[in-house]
Amino acid sequence: MKNTLIAPSVLAADFANLQRDLEMINNSQADWFHIDIMDGVFVPNISFGMPVLEAISKHAKKYIDVHLMIIDPDRYIKTFADLGANGLTVHYEACTHLHRTLQAIKSEGMKAGVAINPHTNIDLLEDVINDIDLVCIMSVNPGFGGQSFIENTYDKVKKLKALITRKNASTIIEIDGGVTNKNAKQLVEAGADVLVAGSFVFKAENSIETIADLKALTTF
Ligand code: DX5
Ligand code: ZN
Repeated sequence: MKNTLIAPSVLAADFANLQRDLEMINNSQADWFHIDIMDGVFVPNISFGMPVLEAISKHAKKYIDVHLMIIDPDRYIKTFADLGANGLTVHYEACTHLHRTLQAIKSEGMKAGVAINPHTNIDLLEDVINDIDLVCIMSVNPGFGGQSFIENTYDKVKKLKALITRKNASTIIEIDGGVTNKNAKQLVEAGADVLVAGSFVFKAENSIETIADLKALTTF
């Protein structure tokens, strides 16, 4: 049976009611908290930083999946481990020595993830796939929530799944950006294991039900 993990993106939460929204995730069928950190350099937007993650960690009762959209992420690996991240994902495009960065993330006791922008080819991961716990395929250009899903993502998921199988790797596949009930099932059929959903969950009238629907749609 396929048990897809659902990871609501806290970027789309109401920051004036953050504790309420974190408790909603705790009480829902969601599996992970997805946390987007942006530096205004790697992406054209700034989200939130360490003090906010520290506050989130105090309330989050599930796996914390941190997605760094920052240049030179090596500087902050230990900091994010100390702040409670269970998994740390860096961008392929932001790392000069990706292999070294992955080892550093693991040595801090976290799962090591690599995110790739929509223009980045799956083949570039071939030599490092066995060192990656999670690949995050960006299905929008990173930087903002609420953008529309890029259709080419399905082909990328299939290509990545084939690479993982061919290399006998245990890497899991996460999709981030524009995920809704319209594309969730097809993404999982293509090979996705984790679905990040921001606006679709938080703009819904009933977020708990929306998470349950996504879970039901992708568990088969
Ligand atoms: C975009 C972020 C996403 C974002 C997804 O740069 O990495 O995690 O929060 O939001 P939606 O689901 O609204 O596209
Ligand atoms: Zn993200």
